[in-house]
Amino acid sequence: MMAEPAAESDLVRANERAEHLNRVLRSFWSVSQLIVQEPERDGLLKGVCESLVRARGYYNAWIALWDDEGAYLTSAEAGLGEDFARLLERLRLGKLTDCCVAALDRDDVVVVGDPFTGCRDCPLSRSYAGRSAMSTRLEHDSKVYGVLSVSAPKDLSADEEELLLFRALSDDVAFALHKFELSRQRQAAEELARRRQVELAHVTRLSTMGEMATALAHELNQPLCAISSSSQACMRLLRAGTVDTEEVLGALEDVDAQAQRAAEIIRRVRAFVRKREPQRTRADINALVRDALALAEPGARRRHVTMRFEAADGLPLAQVDTIEITQVVFNLIRNAIEAMGAGPPEGRYLEVRTSLREPDALLVAVSDTGPGLPDHGIGKVFDAFYTTKPEGMGMGLSICQSIVVSHGGELWAENGSPRGATFQFTLPTIK
Ligand SMILES: Nc1ncnc2c1ncn2[C@@H]1O[C@H](COP(=O)(O)OP(=O)(O)OP(=O)(O)O)[C@@H](O)[C@H]1O
Ligand SMILES: [Mg+2]
Repeated sequence: MMAEPAAESDLVRANERAEHLNRVLRSFWSVSQLIVQEPERDGLLKGVCESLVRARGYYNAWIALWDDEGAYLTSAEAGLGEDFARLLERLRLGKLTDCCVAALDRDDVVVVGDPFTGCRDCPLSRSYAGRSAMSTRLEHDSKVYGVLSVSAPKDLSADEEELLLFRALSDDVAFALHKFELSRQRQAAEELARRRQVELAHVTRLSTMGEMATALAHELNQPLCAISSSSQACMRLLRAGTVDTEEVLGALEDVDAQAQRAAEIIRRVRAFVRKREPQRTRADINALVRDALALAEPGARRRHVTMRFEAADGLPLAQVDTIEITQVVFNLIRNAIEAMGAGPPEGRYLEVRTSLREPDALLVAVSDTGPGLPDHGIGKVFDAFYTTKPEGMGMGLSICQSIVVSHGGELWAENGSPRGATFQFTLPTIK
């Protein structure tokens, strides 16, 4: 008869225990789900606070983070609302609450049994009547990110096991913060590398313009001379008083066409050397190859190289940075011209071909009739600073490769038979 009440209370205790464990499991589960799935740091913090209140049965939860210099970074809360805004004001001013200071200083959980009477200067204390507070620092690998604090029923915060669980949860959150930091650092490093590549590409475009200056002046001289002689013809006709409208119009049309030709040369060169942010647009690869050929034209003429363009019709567009891709083609053409320029003056032919390599990839190939690459050089030509030219920087192909790869394509070289080299690259088409 006496055993029954004991069994009943055992049962109640066992039920309570099972419920307790169930909650613990649910809160661990939801926090780990968040850690795996939440892509944003602030979203994670908010989600953790909410799930601690929802699944763990805490009255409220808040997290605050500080940066390496101790300046307030961000925070999140659940179950506090307006009261938290007042705490936030303090944290922003660098005035930490006592529990924050204590938690940041220790690696175990700081329990305040009765914040309502014990922490009068804390803006949260008035909502803590009959509750206790548990705070712990968020630390991973000796780096302290901030504090996680909750208010809990008094019996929970007195339970050693509960404190261990709370600590384990905060370790998980700190680990997630560590992961965010790593990914932020990686993104910053990638961004820096990308910027360096853009700057380097720009500097090398400028340097090629330096050596092209004389040739360009010559290039511009032609339309300017044509403009001058057509204008003189107009003046002669007008002075003679025998105005033949058709003849004058013809000469003026000539002036206009030559002025446009000069403007086009200037536009192409200005676009090529301008410092600008990379920007991807839908582009016709044949138009970019034509721009590159036009830029290389003066150099080709000086070295007696005949250039040909075999353009495939009806190619799909590609999503590219037009100046970067023009630079790739221009670098390959320049290398080919330079390679042939070092050999015998006859038979210097360069051909650029475009084609559809696969339904979703364009191919641009630049072939020359130069000496080709030495066997040991084929693997090395894309290395930065590899050059066989006295004036070379050895950066041209390395820049080409990083540009092509960043567009999702590939660049490679082959020797021709019996001579010459072909450099070709692919670019994904727009689907
Ligand atoms: N078409 C080619 N035929 C033969 N060798 C080539 C050809 N293109 C490149 N090379 C070899 O690859 C090397 C590297 O070329 P890359 O364009 O990277 O540098 P570079 O032309 O030497 O200098 P720069 O930085 O001014 O372009 C060249 O020095 C040359 O030896
Ligand atoms: Mg080069």
